[in-house]
Parts: sequence; structure tokens; C-alpha cells
Amino acid sequence: MHKTKYSLLSLMLVLFLFCSLLKIQGLPQNVISPIDLSALQQIKNSLTDIPSSHTSPSKRFFTSWDFSSLDPCSTFAGITCTSPFLNPRRVTSLILGTGLSDTLGLAGSLSPSISNLTELNQLVLNAGIVTGPIPTQLGNLRNLRVISLTNNRLTGSIPVSIFALPNLHTLDLSNNDLWGSIPPSLSHLDQLKVIVLGSNRLSGEIPNQLPVHLLHLDLKNNLFTGMLPRKMPLSIRYLSVSGNRMWGPLNGLESLSELVYLDLSMNRFSGTIPVSLFRSSLSSMLLQRNNLSGGVTTPTASSSSLSSSSPLSLYGEGSIVDLSHNMLTGELPTGAFSGVETLFLNNNRFTGKVPEEYVQNLHTGGTTTLYLQHNYLTDFPMLSHMKLPDSVSLCLSYNCMVPPVGLTACPANAGEQLSRPAYQCSNFTNGGSTG
Ligand SMILES: *[C@@H]1O[C@H](CO)[C@@H](O)[C@H](O)[C@H]1NC(C)=O
Ligand SMILES: *[C@@H]1O[C@H](CO)[C@@H](O)[C@H](O)[C@H]1NC(C)=O
Ligand SMILES: *[C@@H]1O[C@H](CO)[C@@H](O)[C@H](O)[C@H]1NC(C)=O
Repeated sequence: MHKTKYSLLSLMLVLFLFCSLLKIQGLPQNVISPIDLSALQQIKNSLTDIPSSHTSPSKRFFTSWDFSSLDPCSTFAGITCTSPFLNPRRVTSLILGTGLSDTLGLAGSLSPSISNLTELNQLVLNAGIVTGPIPTQLGNLRNLRVISLTNNRLTGSIPVSIFALPNLHTLDLSNNDLWGSIPPSLSHLDQLKVIVLGSNRLSGEIPNQLPVHLLHLDLKNNLFTGMLPRKMPLSIRYLSVSGNRMWGPLNGLESLSELVYLDLSMNRFSGTIPVSLFRSSLSSMLLQRNNLSGGVTTPTASSSSLSSSSPLSLYGEGSIVDLSHNMLTGELPTGAFSGVETLFLNNNRFTGKVPEEYVQNLHTGGTTTLYLQHNYLTDFPMLSHMKLPDSVSLCLSYNCMVPPVGLTACPANAGEQLSRPAYQCSNFTNGGSTG
């Protein structure tokens, strides 16, 4: 009995010494900074899980935010802290909302106290119905690299101070009710690579100078006006300004050799389509519903045989080119769309025969959707030995020809009429303008 007591005492002594040693060497303490803790408290006070009878308490985001916890860094959902070897620990990442599809997200507003989390490098708000402005104080968080506050109901303009955060890499504020414009100071952000501001009510012109290393710019479904920036960053891979009120020529896109996704649809762009945009590396080119005109001149077979360095390569799986609903004229280009999987050229003013190449591409399965309706085309050279795969979607209606029987599968909006009224076609069917 005596002996056990003695060894227990010595064990406690050893433990005590060991713990003091840990303390001296700064080993794990798990003490969160009191300023951060108080900021987290404010953040929680201004937000709440959207009540839902379907969501069990365990799936509510704030269930784990128990302020009597000794170690918030490891028990609070959505937070990441600095290393436990640093004392006190600071919050470095804050992800608000579970992001699970079976929860409704958060309601309330964003507390300005977020700006007291001065070591924060990532701030994410998952989909919900959070309202009110983006706190201007976020601009104090110099370490922020990622701001993603999407699919909520945030209002007001984007704080200018955000466009001065030196380390900002990703800014995603899409699907909110934000208004105002993008300040030109944006161009100074050397680290900024991803800007997603789609589906808001932003207006004004896109600044002429954009961050030099920008990879992804998505401004779709806003109220932007004016022309495309004169000089786009050469690094850009994804560009969408679809569904705005922009106008002017498609200048300045030629040099963007990294571009793989271009969506300028549903604007008022005019002029011709630059030849250089027809390249297989640009696997999505969406220019529909603009005011583009002129013929589609493409790198032709003869010019590519001259420069052996640039043989026409094939577009790949998933590729899409949509030039529909413009005012394009002339004959359908050859050598431009080899292997484009989905090709929409409908509702333009194309004339002449459909080149055999198009039929061939359908036959081989390279092209699976080809819409040519509502043009002035005069012939579809269906060769008798060719059978098109069943999966092909081909629409030829409302042209200056009677489409081959049983071939066309048109969308509902193509209308009922198989051909144009003859008087609209007299200029094209007599060989007059088709040459
Ligand atoms: C930040 O923390 C300090 C100290 O706790 C506090 O006085 C201040 O009100 C906080 N700021 C915000 C915006 O909450
Ligand atoms: C469309 O472009 C033509 C010139 O190509 C121009 O005259 C016309 O005003 C433009 N229409 C609109 C609605 O922008
Ligand atoms: C056909 O040509 C005539 C005379 O050049 C012109 O007035 C008319 O607008 C043209 N029709 C179409 C549909 O282009």
C-alpha cells in the first residue's frame, strides 16, 4: 500500500516535470488567441443555421461552436488555426456553412469582427441566404488569399479595399445581389488569378488593365457595358462576359494563346470574328446572340499547307462552337470545325452548299450536334452510302432547300417550316450569289 502511494507520487512528479518542460519548449498548448475567440463569438452571433425540419442538429453548422470548449481550433467546424506549436494559436481559415447539399446554409449577416482574424488567409461562405454588405474591414486582412462568398444575398458594392489585398489569389462573389463597378486598382494585384463575379448586378466598364497573371475571369450575367479591355492578360485561360451589355469589335483576343474557354454570348458585339479564334485549343467558343457579321474566314487548307508548322488539328471531345443568332454571311467555312463535337451555326445568313466535310464529320462521329437551321443554305450533300449515327442531332430546317427526309431533328424553337419561302431564296438558288 505504502509502496504504491510512493510510486504514484514519483510518477506525478515526473509528469509535472515533463509538462513544465513542454511549456518551456512551447509544445502543444492549444490556446486560441482571445481576440480571435471573441471575433468568432461575434461571427456566430450575427449568423444562424437556416432552420429546417429536415436538418438534424448534428448537421447544423454551428452545433460544434461551443464556446466552453477548451480547444476551439480542433472542435469548431470550419476553422483551421496556426500550428499548435505557436502560442497563441490564430485562425487561418474560416469556412462558414457546411456546404452539404442536404443543409440549407446560413442566414444573417457577416460580422465586421472577421477583420480581427488578422492571420486569416481563406474566407469561405457556403451557399445560403446571408444578407447585408461585405464588411469593408475585410480589406485589413493582408494575408487573405481566397475570398469565396457565393450563392447568398449579399448586397452593396464590393469594398474597394478588397481590390488592394496584396496576396489575393481567388475572389469569388458570384450569385449575390452586388452592384457597383470594378475599380481600376484591380490591375495592381499581381497574385490575383481567379475572379468570379457572375450573376450580380455589377455595372460600368471592365477595367482596361487586368491583373497580369489572371487565369480565370467570369463576369457573366451582370450589367457591364463598354468594350472588351484593350489588353487582356496573356495568361488568361477562361473568359466569360456572357449576358451583359457590352459592344464593339472582338479585338485583342488574337494574342491569347492560352485561352480554352471563351464566352461572349448575349451581348452586342459586332464586326467580324478574328480568324485566329478558330483553333482547336479553344475548345469552347460561345459567341451566340451578338451582332457579329461578315464571312467566317478560317485558316484554309491551302494556307495551312503553306505553313507546315501549323497543321489544322482536331477539336476534341466536349468541344463546342456556338455562333448562332448573329448576322454571319458567306459560305460555311471549311477546315475550321473538324471534330467540333457540338456546332451551332443556326440563325445566321450563311449561303451556298453545306461542304461535304460537315457531313463527313457527322458520319465519323466527330460532330454529334450540328444546327444549321434558319440560314440560306441550298444543299446538304448526303451521300447515298453514308448512314449517320443514330446519336446525331442535325437540324437543317428553314433554309433554301428541302432537307433530306428523316435526317433532321430540330429543337422546338426552330419552327415547323422545313424550308424558307421561295421568294427569300431567289437570290441564292439561281447560282447568282453562291458562285
Ligand atoms: C477587434 O478586437 C478588439 C479587441 O478585442 C475590439 O476592441 C474591437 O472592437 C474588435 N473589432 C471588431 C470590428 O469587432
Ligand atoms: C449591328 O452592327 C451593325 C454593323 O455591323 C450596326 O450598324 C448596328 O447598329 C448594330 N446593331 C446593334 C443593335 O448594335
Ligand atoms: C436579293 O437581291 C435583291 C437585288 O440585289 C435585293 O434587293 C434583295 O434584298 C435580295 N434578297 C435577299 C433575301 O437577300
